[in-house]
Amino acid sequence: MDHEDQPTVLLPGEVRMPLLGFGTWQATGKSAYDAVLAALDAGYRHIDTATVYGNEEEVGRAVRESDLRREDLFITTKLPPNRVGRERETLEASLEALGTDHVDLWLIHWPPAAPGDSIPLWRELLAARDESLTRAIGVSNYSTPEIDELIQATEENPAVNQIKWSPFLYDRQRHIEHRDRGVVLEGYSPFKTSDLSDPVLSRIASAHGVSPAQVVLRWHIDHEIVAIPKSVTPDRIRANADIFRFSLTAEEMRDIDALGTV
Ligand SMILES: NC(=O)c1ccc[n+]([C@@H]2O[C@H](COP(=O)([O-])OP(=O)(O)OC[C@H]3O[C@@H](n4cnc5c(N)ncnc54)[C@H](OP(=O)(O)O)[C@@H]3O)[C@@H](O)[C@H]2O)c1
Repeated sequence: MDHEDQPTVLLPGEVRMPLLGFGTWQATGKSAYDAVLAALDAGYRHIDTATVYGNEEEVGRAVRESDLRREDLFITTKLPPNRVGRERETLEASLEALGTDHVDLWLIHWPPAAPGDSIPLWRELLAARDESLTRAIGVSNYSTPEIDELIQATEENPAVNQIKWSPFLYDRQRHIEHRDRGVVLEGYSPFKTSDLSDPVLSRIASAHGVSPAQVVLRWHIDHEIVAIPKSVTPDRIRANADIFRFSLTAEEMRDIDALGTV
């Protein structure tokens, strides 16, 4: 895959986010390092990590050893919301572990248990962005009303909301709600929430000579939804990135969308 041809979505501040990223949850130690190195070799230019994944150091080491230029990579990490009052030190620890002076996207990993904490946390993310410690900021696992609360309080919308998403969870209305607010929808767990033996996916996969997993990922891209599949298996890492040589017809997209309503 030629990374220069990879589709991206534009975030505020002229930040280009590749629609395909590499997930790293549950990959730790050498396995995380090897997987990220293999992913960068396979052409991914966007890596998704988080403070709680415990692998930022391995991600950082793989990025450095790949010899890619930092400006050609998009790195996301996430703040656990129980770090209220320690946001800045948490980000600094992420930057140190990743071996970089900024990330491209910093997310609140999930809504804080005390709802009153959400706005102060969001203000800390805004401050970090204003100081260029992160190029863009967003949230994860937020409902639309929870996003609206942030926008009402600060007049600043999250650039991204990372939520569980797949054809089987497809919710057109929720996608529109994000679009209306200028929030990019980033999906996670595309495979864990899919039945990869579903006959609709199998039929469409056969028609294009690809796998059902590749169809699931391509469906995200064609909806302009960010997908971050995870794998520690070299063949799957490569196959999950090899999704730009085919595209889905409007009818195929509709058939896949319909999996979300059965
Ligand atoms: N914000 C959040 O709260 C949140 C929550 C969950 C996940 N995430 C992010 O989203 C990423 C992806 O989600 P996920 O890790 O939960 O699940 P996923 O990407 O849907 O699935 C990963 C699983 O699918 C397997 N797999 C990978 N490629 C495959 C293929 N082509 N065919 C069949 N199976 C395949 C992997 O196995 P092998 O690794 O053994 O190959 C692994 O067991 C995470 O890694 C993380 O970065 C964020």
